[in-house]
Amino acid sequence: MNILISNDHAGVELKKEVISFLEEKGYVVENMGDNTGKSVDYPDVIHPLAKAISKSNKKKGIIMCGTGNGVSMVANKYKGVRAGLCWSKEIAELIRRHNNANVLSIPARFLTNKQAIEIVQTFLETDFEGGRHEARVNKINKEEG
Ligand code: RB5
Repeated sequence: MNILISNDHAGVELKKEVISFLEEKGYVVENMGDNTGKSVDYPDVIHPLAKAISKSNKKKGIIMCGTGNGVSMVANKYKGVRAGLCWSKEIAELIRRHNNANVLSIPARFLTNKQAIEIVQTFLETDFEGGRHEARVNKINKEEG
């Protein structure tokens, strides 16, 4: 599976660790984020990723900023993108099982590398439950307003 990954300056170091983990596991990673650590505006690094996820219902994304909030706000503007902010592996499991999240948002300044990697692994290895959750997920997108 291809994983798209993007981040602002707050997520550079963690992103490198996550990419190593994913590549060791055999995932093909497309790195769309900042690699310099110099200040960047988080919308600029997230719009291209969110656009790509919105166009393909097969891809998954991982996004990071200091709190994980700015990047999720941007990603969730796109139709078909369901970005969930996670700070524990239990939440990572639930955003897959219940919300069919296709983007994982990580608060890079508030987690250790080990915690973040457990969250990434859980997100990628947990399936959507469907059933009553499918009906709820189908109600997320609205036509206007
Ligand atoms: C950058 O300092 C910080 O504001 C950003 O990484 C993020 O937390 C925004 O939501």
